Amino acid sequence: MPVIAIIGAQWGDEGKGKVVDLLAEKVKVVMRFSGGDNAGHTVVNPYGEFKLHLVPSGIFYPHTVCIIGNGVVINPTVLISEVDELNQRGVDTNRLFISDRAHLIMPYHILLDGLEEELRGVKALGTTRKGVGPAFTDKTARLGIRAGDLLDKEALRERLQFVLEYKNIILTKVHGVNPLSLDEVYSGYCRYAERLAPFIRETSVMVEEALNEGELVLLEGAQGSLLDPDFGSYPYTTSSSPLAGGGCLGAGISPNRINRILGVFKAYCTRVGSGPMPTELKDEVGNLIRERAHEYGTTTGRPRRCGWFDAVAARFTSRINGFTGAAITRLDILDTFPHLKICVGYKLDGQTIDYFPASITALERCQPIYEEVPGWQAPTTHIRQYEELPPEAKQYLARLEEFIACPINLVCVGPRREQTIVKTPIF
Ligand code: GDP
Ligand code: IMO
Ligand code: MG
Repeated sequence: MPVIAIIGAQWGDEGKGKVVDLLAEKVKVVMRFSGGDNAGHTVVNPYGEFKLHLVPSGIFYPHTVCIIGNGVVINPTVLISEVDELNQRGVDTNRLFISDRAHLIMPYHILLDGLEEELRGVKALGTTRKGVGPAFTDKTARLGIRAGDLLDKEALRERLQFVLEYKNIILTKVHGVNPLSLDEVYSGYCRYAERLAPFIRETSVMVEEALNEGELVLLEGAQGSLLDPDFGSYPYTTSSSPLAGGGCLGAGISPNRINRILGVFKAYCTRVGSGPMPTELKDEVGNLIRERAHEYGTTTGRPRRCGWFDAVAARFTSRINGFTGAAITRLDILDTFPHLKICVGYKLDGQTIDYFPASITALERCQPIYEEVPGWQAPTTHIRQYEELPPEAKQYLARLEEFIACPINLVCVGPRREQTIVKTPIF
């Protein structure tokens, strides 16, 4: 049986959580493979509304095993409170597992995320300040502490002592703030160890076994492809790969196991944090989308920047991920507009281009070239059959499909699990 990767195709917050919650019904394993609690995945189902930052969105089905993979960085406090909240609200978390190879977010990562943002001044990245970037930096710098380290308290203390000496030099000498106490940090992480030890496993073996037994596995992407450190609007990116390719590394499965790659797109664009966004609308239309859709960050509450669908960026993310299908979410937000615009090219220094430039300064100068299409001006939130959508909505989707160059599998018309139209079955 196959692996389906659910991938953010824009700048994050496309509705991956909703899509995973919907598809997980038929799935044995749901696995997060990247990011950390910078992610905020909203799920609205019979248990209520949840904003998940680390726990995979498949947790609501009693038969689904949920794994936080090796490619995720984990803040233990956030994870423990998320588990507690789920339990209090009647959701069982006994099938949750954590990779022993996943790195931990430490208190100095959170401190450094904020301090580094302050130092960047007007060039601040607008990070979520959750310590995710500094934790991935330490992973690459070979200064990380991993979930598996919590299982051996003596070795944990020795490792922490070594790393903290180094981190305290940075905190005091570079940033001029107080050092962290080894005893305090160590005793805090020993407490987390008590809570998290039962969840920690060699998880890549669990996925392998599920696949060998013919089960279906979902990889739950975090962030969006345009935040990828290689292919996104660097340096205004996140620090781990949200792409389908990142799924193999962050879950510990072979590329030849992934059979379907579903790109999740909003029917328009949003971005939270700094960096260029060619179709951003800084006018009344942008405000209207934000208020109608309540576009405020799930993790930080910051207003999201809103704009028309960017088909140049969409074609790019479809290509680098190799999407086999797409989910278009939030179609209902466009229900009231008499006309819609799709960005079909960019004007760059007087030239028309049809690609997403690598250079940040070029991207900042790109002006969108729009194609205007008629809106449908009719409610869609109650519709469950593709044929019942207004003709203009079908035309809009057909036009997006041409740019994305893969079939649209799902169309979402509301936040609830059942507010979904299957246009083309995934299998
Ligand atoms: P994620 O990070 O990709 O999981 O997305 P977020 O949860 O951060 O943001 C997506 C928002 O859109 C959430 O508030 C969802 O409840 C909501 N949502 C998802 N699909 C739809 C849809 O089709 N229509 C509407 N109105 N809201 C949706
Ligand atoms: P989900 O999974 C939207 C953005 C931040 C910032 C940049 C770097 O909910 O789609 P970071 O804290 O990662 O160092 O911040 O990345 N960002 C997201 N934007 N959705 C997300 O996740 C994001 N995760 C990070 O706003 O611009
Ligand atoms: Mg989100």
